[in-house]
Amino acid sequence: MDNFPTVLAICRTAMRTPNPTLTRNIGKLRDALSKQGLEDQAEALSLVLKAKQATDTLAPTRVALATATRERMSRSVHAPVDKESGAPLASIVFPEDAETGLEPILEVALSKAIAALVAEWQSASMLIEAGIRPPLNLLLYGAPGTGKTALAKVIAAQMELPLVTARLDGLISSFLGTTARNIANLFEFADRYDCILLLDEFDAVAKVRDDPHELGEIKRVVNTLLQCLDERRERGFTIAITNHEHLLDAAIWRRFDSRVAIPRPGAESRVRMVSRFLSGVPVEEVDISLLAWLTDGRSGAEIETLCSSIKRYLVMNGAGRKSLLEALSVNSLLSADHSGSPRQAIFAEGSEALARRLSSDEEIRFTQESMARLFNTTQSTISRWLRK
Ligand SMILES: Nc1ncnc2c1ncn2[C@@H]1O[C@H](COP(=O)(O)OP(=O)(O)O)[C@@H](O)[C@H]1O
Ligand SMILES: [Mg+2]
Repeated sequence: MDNFPTVLAICRTAMRTPNPTLTRNIGKLRDALSKQGLEDQAEALSLVLKAKQATDTLAPTRVALATATRERMSRSVHAPVDKESGAPLASIVFPEDAETGLEPILEVALSKAIAALVAEWQSASMLIEAGIRPPLNLLLYGAPGTGKTALAKVIAAQMELPLVTARLDGLISSFLGTTARNIANLFEFADRYDCILLLDEFDAVAKVRDDPHELGEIKRVVNTLLQCLDERRERGFTIAITNHEHLLDAAIWRRFDSRVAIPRPGAESRVRMVSRFLSGVPVEEVDISLLAWLTDGRSGAEIETLCSSIKRYLVMNGAGRKSLLEALSVNSLLSADHSGSPRQAIFAEGSEALARRLSSDEEIRFTQESMARLFNTTQSTISRWLRK
């Protein structure tokens, strides 16, 4: 179903003040999706309905998380600043200002797990009322450009909460001792309001304590961070992100209830990404398969960059059958570093070499017919190339 994430968000919001007609209609939609074989979407709606049932049985109304102490963040609230430099320690994005970007494309099982976690977060107050402590913090880790920051933003938008993103330039002070104080101030600020605290590129402050070069100060910073994370665990939502999980102190790592690896996209996700990033230009299924195959080992951000470059080329040069391959070879020459992507390097060797590689590749299994379409030539030319 097109636009399902939007439909899901509407259902979730509507279910905050549920009524029997609404529940019945969401149930109908779920059954219809399930009949069409869209099991993931049906399952996501089931979770929305389940969260509602849990609310019914456990608590009559939705209570805000620890309402007694938590304030709603108004527009006039400003993040605390570094006392030495005056730089803000965080930036704040209100849910109504959040860019309504598309959800990052993740493996189906992973998307489901994240959706389940968000559903728990949305029912956190109810769970707490019932004496169950839901996990309130999440650590996302993985290679750069895999969509971690984008995912955190989507989660905040789904939760309809302000996103308070720690600013490392403000937090890390050149003055000894000030960094620890900044961290404590930032957490105190986040704890006061109903919000999500985002610690992006978190390794900068959560490094292993036994780094011999930075002993005293780093130790103090990490100890403060541990203490703050411990206290916050009971109080509010925290998402921490790192590209260098091996740099994290083990004690910090343990503080997170959910630790989720965001991998580079697999074959099926790459197909979905290429289709999304090339939407609006006329490409065929063979083109999408080729691009998904070529970008094995690449991150979502790299695939997006490649697709944008192709899109630009197609718009500038008229989107004929031949231009996709031209666009690819131009791109291959313009981005000489193929270390992460041996398949893209083959491209620079020319059409015939590429055709031979495609015909012998186990994964892509292009027929001569689809290769003829791809290279905009005849099947007999392709078979001549392959015989060489
Ligand atoms: N899994 C993905 N699905 C869709 N787009 C992605 C994905 N991963 C990366 N991107 C694109 O790359 C951009 C940068 O990703 P980002 O979230 O900053 O990665 P990270 O925080 O993991 O380094 C995103 O805004 C999005 O446009
Ligand atoms: Mg990031």
